[in-house]
Amino acid sequence: MVDVLLGLQWGDEGKGKIVDYFAPQYDIIARFQGGPNAGHTLYVNGEKIVLHQIPSGIFHENTINLIGNGVVLDAVTLKKEYDKVSAFGVDGRKNLFIAERTHLILPTHRALDKASEISKGNDKIGSTLKGIGPAYMDKTGRNGLRVGDLLDKNFTTQYIKLRLKHQRMLDSFGFNEDISAWEEEFFEAIEFMRTLKIVNGEYFVNEKIREGKKVLAEGAQGSMLDVDFGTFPFVTSSSTISAGVCTGLGIAPQKIKEVIGVTKAYCTRVGSGPFPTELHDETGERLRKTGNEFGATTGRPRRCGWIDLVALDFACMVNGVTQLVMTKSDVLDAFENLSVCTSYKIDGKEAKQVPYQICKVPIEPQYQSFEGWMTDITKITDHKDLPATMKQYIEFINNYLGVKVSYISNGPGRDQIIKA
Ligand code: GDP
Ligand code: IMO
Ligand code: MG
Repeated sequence: MVDVLLGLQWGDEGKGKIVDYFAPQYDIIARFQGGPNAGHTLYVNGEKIVLHQIPSGIFHENTINLIGNGVVLDAVTLKKEYDKVSAFGVDGRKNLFIAERTHLILPTHRALDKASEISKGNDKIGSTLKGIGPAYMDKTGRNGLRVGDLLDKNFTTQYIKLRLKHQRMLDSFGFNEDISAWEEEFFEAIEFMRTLKIVNGEYFVNEKIREGKKVLAEGAQGSMLDVDFGTFPFVTSSSTISAGVCTGLGIAPQKIKEVIGVTKAYCTRVGSGPFPTELHDETGERLRKTGNEFGATTGRPRRCGWIDLVALDFACMVNGVTQLVMTKSDVLDAFENLSVCTSYKIDGKEAKQVPYQICKVPIEPQYQSFEGWMTDITKITDHKDLPATMKQYIEFINNYLGVKVSYISNGPGRDQIIKA
């Protein structure tokens, strides 16, 4: 049996914290897409740690953590992260597994990401520059190198061949930064990776499912960054939605049971692209400050705005969300008034659907106002103790989406979560 946990907005919904919370209920936590563009923040013994490649179940001793074939893997980031979690007493050689079909991010992919962004000028995607787009291009273009290739004695020859191809592309961009230091690090990290548990991911996970083990698929990014259904071209390069779990792990759709969608109580986005409810005023600034909205991977300030139910409804639809987790609700504790976007006005007409032209047409979000709860909720542990005004806010969202918020996260800490 497989459950899925993924972000419903533009990423950074707090997925890492929620996976860490649910991890004891599962035998396996598996990443199925994305790469080191992800930054999932966890608190372990009160100490903050940000994971980019390793699944967020790594701090639970008896949990298997699988990097699935749908991920793109940066060996250098993995090695650094491995050392970081080892310092917490984690034995990665025991509970970290990597699928052999997982594609590798090469130093030239990172260079190509940078060269491509520079060439776009003002139209840049706002990529994290981790080489995600170029690595997925080499996957679908049938050129990429995979983790299983590391065990092949011709790996270096294959690498040199692909590197030459990339060099021609970099030359055409006029990109001439020296990447030899990156390459040195890369080959060191490749040596290290050869010592890890490399498995046939699809047999590995399906055998566990047959044995009755429970799998939680951990999404990265968010549904509005999905390569098909997000705000294209301002998206990432993978399938971030629940369908990505099947291709990203090699499991059949009937195996998926719960789809847990994570949303903030408001909304953020980092990087370029449309964001209908973005606030460019003091309220936006206040959300950023109170919510500490700065990227976990790049440190960039996140753009902030009110919760967008049109986009959330769309995300619930394409994912088949069965339950919601609302995070960062405490960030709204001291806001006198709250707004919830219930429709878009496009060309004078009201719409409740996300338009194909979202990147091109001006959208006027229509809001319903709510009274704020003006209460510190961070220490509340029981749903019955939540302020009535907050319950009304959540009830409205439940009714609009037709999916229930079953957990409310009221702080970054491991125990700050309330069952509804
Ligand atoms: P992810 O990429 O979805 O895992 O999210 P990030 O880790 O990038 O960003 C979420 C940020 O919000 C992190 O700094 C978390 O520690 C923090 N966080 C998560 N849940 C809550 C919450 O309920 N309240 C507050 N105040 N912070 C939270
Ligand atoms: P987590 O898993 C927020 C954004 C980038 C950029 C776009 C494309 O922490 O939620 P890419 O590097 O993938 O080519 O960037 O996607 N982006 C994210 N935004 N959270 C993330 O991951 C993101 N991963 C990528 O900012 O706009
Ligand atoms: Mg993040």
